[in-house]
Amino acid sequence: MAKIIVVSGTPGTGKTLLAKKLAEKLGACYVNLSSIVIEKKLYAEYDAGRNTYVVDEEKVREYLRRLTRDCELIVVDSHYGEIAPRELVDKVIVLRLDPIELEKRLKKREWRWEKIKENIQAEILGVCTVNAVEEQGEEKVFEINATGKTLDEILEEALDIVKGRTKEKRPFIDWFSIKEFSELEKYLV
Ligand SMILES: Nc1ncnc2c1ncn2[C@@H]1O[C@H](COP(=O)(O)OP(=O)(O)OP(=O)(O)O)[C@@H](O)[C@H]1O
Ligand SMILES: [Mg+2]
Repeated sequence: MAKIIVVSGTPGTGKTLLAKKLAEKLGACYVNLSSIVIEKKLYAEYDAGRNTYVVDEEKVREYLRRLTRDCELIVVDSHYGEIAPRELVDKVIVLRLDPIELEKRLKKREWRWEKIKENIQAEILGVCTVNAVEEQGEEKVFEINATGKTLDEILEEALDIVKGRTKEKRPFIDWFSIKEFSELEKYLV
């Protein structure tokens, strides 16, 4: 039975670097949803106001179901990867990154501060984890704290998760209990 490993996380947490490496290591197919949605026109419409495509989730699911004819194992790279078909998703790995480290990475993108802030807020609130739990169920969802780790270290943790060697990954990361509130305040105003 074919299965999907989702690599999720706020933009900038390192999904693409990890997911490509993980797919290579597992001999799996790699799918970047953002690229494929545009390439295969898996969107419902273009939202000019937000300058984004509105993803047609059912089309994405159909695409992934069809792909299982050629791929026994698929690594899906996307911050909304939890929309993948429930019956195919084996595990969701959510990369988490210290908001201060995330700010440094996103500042390199020349995004406006509002957009950087929105994404850091999503990281602080754990939006990707919450969405993954909601769509796929808590038992499938595993977080990796990528802060201060090399790609190889993160890859090892991801392989442990995929191979079922990681049993307990709870509680999920709560930056409010790790950081001082004064460090996070500027992202919340
Ligand atoms: N473990 C790491 N250590 C240091 N830098 C990293 C690490 N992982 C990723 N980065 C850097 O962070 C940036 C973002 O990485 P990457 O593109 O993989 O993130 P992403 O989650 O795929 O982002 P997006 O959602 O926008 O596609 C890159 O510049 C990358 O080199
Ligand atoms: Mg990426």
